[in-house]
Amino acid sequence: MSPVASLAVLLSTLSVTLLLVRGSPPGPVVVCRSGNANCTVTNAYGAFPDRSTCTVAAVTYPSTEQELLIAVSGASAKKQHMKAVTVYAHSMPKLTCPGGPGGQGLVISTSRLNRTVSVDVALARMTFEAGITLRALLDAAAASGLALPHSPYWQGVTLGGLLSTGSHGSSAFGKGSAVHEYVVGMRLVVPSPVAVDGYYAKIISLDEEDEELLAAKVSLGVLGVISQVTLQLEPMFKRSVTNRIVTDVAFEQTISSFAATTPYGDIIWYPSQAKVVYRDDFKLPITSQGQGLNDFLGFRAQSTLVIAATRATEELSELTGDANGKCAQSVIQVSTLTLAGMGLKNNNGGLIDFTGYPVIGNQSDMMSAGSCLRSAPDGLLTACGWDPRFRGLFYHQTTISIPFANITGFVADVKQLRDANPSALCGTELYLGFFMRFVRNSTAFLGKTEDAVDIDITYYRSRDPLQPRLFEDVLEEIEQMALFKYNGMPHWGKNRNIAFLGMRDKLGAKLDKFLDVMQRYDSEGLFSSDWSDAVLGLNGKEVVVEGEGCALEGLCICSIDDHCAPGQGYYCRAGHVYGEARVCRKVETSVEDNDGRAESA
Ligand SMILES: Cc1cc2nc3c(=O)[nH]c(=O)nc-3n(C[C@H](O)[C@H](O)[C@H](O)COP(=O)(O)OP(=O)(O)OC[C@H]3O[C@@H](n4cnc5c(N)ncnc54)[C@H](O)[C@@H]3O)c2cc1C
Ligand SMILES: *[C@@H]1O[C@H](CO)[C@@H](O)[C@H](O)[C@H]1NC(C)=O
Ligand SMILES: *[C@@H]1O[C@H](CO)[C@@H](O)[C@H](O)[C@H]1NC(C)=O
Ligand SMILES: *[C@@H]1O[C@H](CO)[C@@H](O)[C@H](O)[C@H]1NC(C)=O
Ligand SMILES: *[C@@H]1O[C@H](CO)[C@@H](O)[C@H](O)[C@H]1NC(C)=O
Ligand SMILES: *[C@@H]1O[C@H](CO)[C@@H](O)[C@H](O)[C@H]1NC(C)=O
Repeated sequence: MSPVASLAVLLSTLSVTLLLVRGSPPGPVVVCRSGNANCTVTNAYGAFPDRSTCTVAAVTYPSTEQELLIAVSGASAKKQHMKAVTVYAHSMPKLTCPGGPGGQGLVISTSRLNRTVSVDVALARMTFEAGITLRALLDAAAASGLALPHSPYWQGVTLGGLLSTGSHGSSAFGKGSAVHEYVVGMRLVVPSPVAVDGYYAKIISLDEEDEELLAAKVSLGVLGVISQVTLQLEPMFKRSVTNRIVTDVAFEQTISSFAATTPYGDIIWYPSQAKVVYRDDFKLPITSQGQGLNDFLGFRAQSTLVIAATRATEELSELTGDANGKCAQSVIQVSTLTLAGMGLKNNNGGLIDFTGYPVIGNQSDMMSAGSCLRSAPDGLLTACGWDPRFRGLFYHQTTISIPFANITGFVADVKQLRDANPSALCGTELYLGFFMRFVRNSTAFLGKTEDAVDIDITYYRSRDPLQPRLFEDVLEEIEQMALFKYNGMPHWGKNRNIAFLGMRDKLGAKLDKFLDVMQRYDSEGLFSSDWSDAVLGLNGKEVVVEGEGCALEGLCICSIDDHCAPGQGYYCRAGHVYGEARVCRKVETSVEDNDGRAESA
């Protein structure tokens, strides 16, 4: 084994075993030069896909709906652009940056709008302020014996933010796993060009009967600020979770039947190790035995020294082209995760965390994780792995929903690419491989159009935007295949720019219905930005940003070699399995691969 590989193995073992109980909660995403004025706004990773910065004139922290109304009214009266920003801002795309002239917008933080408003135990409904975090929401519901049917797996998101990007867990049962399917009422504060009762803003209250709720449930934040949300919950129940590992031979044939028989199931595919982890996950009555807790290892506070060293190893593998080093690292990492039951605890508070499957616990304890968000600050000795205040993890995430009807074909295509380059996808296995979850089509206008398998693919991002990654071409081909060959829908809160090409066509009439409501709620577009216009196909704005090396960051699909890194041997070529893909491929000799050459644009 090379020294790099053995170091990698050592470090990755440490990184998942040396887990400390303390942690540094994430830092602020809005930082101002004077008081609440002259601020920069970023996301939880400290970087947008295009690495641009966002500056605003001011931030405001309303703590009541009335203060929120005053904030929106004040900006609206001046025709100032604005956006809601959440306490941690966990979306990747540049969604929270206000539009309009640079540096002159307003961000309205929802961090103090985080209370429970009311509980109706008989109907199992609760109303929350939109800035409440998922963890606090689950705790408040559990205190009334209630549970949210589905949620994202990460507790750092807020109710308003997770809804705005259509966030979900995993289920093809009933209405599916998107939280917005369980919204039965909403209150929004929207701007008004004319004064209404003295305010240039008004409160809109929607209930289940209102068609406009189908716009408001998933809105990318372009309608106004969500003030409160009423959710349909259910009585607390338990979940029984067992992770089952098998070979990946023909597993693509089983995805639909697994989804149809497993109410909370998901699948992790480790393509290079040819392994699949099925999460057999069922509902049990609340009377069942078990005090399990999901404390997923990847969401625990980890030693920043160890994570920084792991990252340095990853950077070294990239720089030296040592794909096998990554493969060795991923084998160790996956077996460590497996031995630790992914971080599941059988008996919260017991001496031994993981004693074996099944792990049974309350829905509120099993559905999500995020202990790196809590516990006392420790001067950044430990933190969430991606915290930008230290040189830890830095990655892109391609998250695309592929219709069930096409998932078999997609996996078979990826297998072909894998077989041609057995070490190409090891890098993704350091970040849960191909992580598959189930979502249902939605009546929400910006929701999914078909029942689908949502796939998260997470991979190395260099701190240098002009530095290609190992097997750049394979990752790009998979991204384009998912989006265009298989007509996949991107997750609004994740992804690189090119994932949002052609959303107008993909959403069709549903988009028109959304734009209708948008026109009614914010006729002057004060909550819109170049980014939201680009993804919605408005005002001639584009998600693509062409320029030198643009394809490396997903800011464009290459059409000329300069979009790649010809100086480092990466040229624009056609895909190997999906011939229509245009990808940046490392070409070893100048004579190779002329037949695969992309037509120059
Ligand atoms: C570690 C991690 C794990 C994740 N796991 C999952 C997962 O399991 N499933 C999944 O689907 N997604 C997942 N995500 C993605 C995440 O759910 C989305 O990015 C979500 O939108 C983030 O919510 P937020 O509260 O941080 O909102 P932000 O990212 O801050 O905001 C998103 C958008 O919503 C708008 N907005 C926020 N609040 C309001 C409001 N009150 N009124 C109007 N507009 C508002 C903002 O202006 C912005 O446009 C994960 C992300 C991370 C970092
Ligand atoms: C914000 O910055 C601008 C330009 O740098 C400056 O003119 C202005 O006085 C600053 N405002 C505050 C409140 O500090
Ligand atoms: C609401 O936010 C405040 C800080 O702004 C925090 O102290 C409090 O614990 C939060 N409440 C909930 C329910 O999250
Ligand atoms: C699980 O939920 C039940 C019902 O709400 C509650 O009584 C119990 O204390 C919860 N168990 C744990 C471990 O929190
Ligand atoms: C996707 O599935 C549909 C429905 O079965 C089928 O018509 C279409 O050809 C599939 N697309 C691809 C690229 O396989
Ligand atoms: C959409 O979901 C409904 C149930 O919610 C289901 O009956 C229907 O088959 C789904 N349609 C598609 C195209 O997936």
